[in-house]
Amino acid sequence: MYSQALNTASAPADTSDAAARFQVRIDAEERIEPNDSMPEQYRRTLIRQISQHAHSEIVGMLPEGNWITRAPSLRRKAALLAKVQDEGGHGLYLYAAAETLGQSREELVEQLLSGRAKYSSIFNYPTLSWADIGTIGWLVDGAAIMNQIPLCRCSYGPYARAMIRICKEESFHQRQGYEIMLTLCRGTAEQKSMAQDALNRWWWPCLMMFGPPDTQSQHSDTSMRWKIKRFTNDALRQKFVDATVPQGLHLGLTFPDPALRFDGGHWVFGEIDWDEFRRVLAGDGPCNRERLAARRQAHEDGAWVREAARAWAAKQKVAA
Ligand SMILES: [Fe+2]
Ligand SMILES: [Fe+2]
Repeated sequence: MYSQALNTASAPADTSDAAARFQVRIDAEERIEPNDSMPEQYRRTLIRQISQHAHSEIVGMLPEGNWITRAPSLRRKAALLAKVQDEGGHGLYLYAAAETLGQSREELVEQLLSGRAKYSSIFNYPTLSWADIGTIGWLVDGAAIMNQIPLCRCSYGPYARAMIRICKEESFHQRQGYEIMLTLCRGTAEQKSMAQDALNRWWWPCLMMFGPPDTQSQHSDTSMRWKIKRFTNDALRQKFVDATVPQGLHLGLTFPDPALRFDGGHWVFGEIDWDEFRRVLAGDGPCNRERLAARRQAHEDGAWVREAARAWAAKQKVAA
C-alpha cells in the first residue's frame, strides 16, 4: 500500500446532524464529490492519505529510474522507461485529487521536501541488481494493486476515479516485473541466484507495505466507516501473501521465511520485524536521506520551469 495506513489517531466521533446525514450518504454507497459538504476530519484524512500516496509514486520513481540506463536490452529499457513514467503520472493524478480537497500542491510538495510528510517505507531500500527491478514490479507493484483495487470503490469520487486508471497501469507493471523474474529463473544458475537474492531482500519490506498490524492501527475504524478503506491492513497483507506465494513457487524460488506454511486455505507467515518498519519510517532506512536529497535536487533543477510557467500565465492575463 502506498499510503501505508499511517494516519494518526482519529478525532472523537462527530455527533452533529450534518455528520449523521453524511454517514447516510456513505452507507448508501453515494460518491462524495469536491463541492459536497463533508466532515472536516474526512477531508483531512483524505488529504493525508492521497498525498502520502502521491509522494510514494514520485519517490518510487527513484529506485527504478536508477536502472534505466543499465537495463539489459532495448526492450527492457523501453518497458522500464514507460513504467517509471507511469509512476510520475500516478503522482500527478493524485496531487490533482488532493487539490480538489482544497490543499495546494505547493504545500504538499513542501511537506515532502521538508521531511514532514510520509511516503511508503518500501522506497527507502536500495536496488542492487537487475533482479531487483523484476522483484519490484512483481512484489511492490503487486502489493500496490492489492491495496489499490479496493480504493477504486473509495467513497471520495476523484480518488476512486484516479485509482481505476492507476490500477490498470499497475497491472502492466506487475506483469513486466514477473516476466523479468521468469526470464532470470529460467536462465543461468547465476541469474537464478540473483533472483533469489532479490526476493530475500525485498520480501519482508513488501509485507510491511500494508502498514502496521490491525492491533496497532488506530485509524482503521473511522476510515472503514467512511468507506475510504474497505479492508484492514492485515486482511490485505494476507490476500497478498496468498496470491504471491504460489507465483514464487512457480518461479522455483524459496521465500526467506522458515515459518511459511499452507494451513486452513491460507499461507501462514512468520513474524514481521516491526522495529525495522518503524526505523525506516522514522527516516533511518538504508536510502531515506538519498531519496529526499534526490527529490530536493530535482525540485531545484525544475525551478526555471515553474518560473517560466508563471511568466507565461502572467502574459496571458495581460493579453486577455
Ligand atoms: Fe504507481
Ligand atoms: Fe507501479
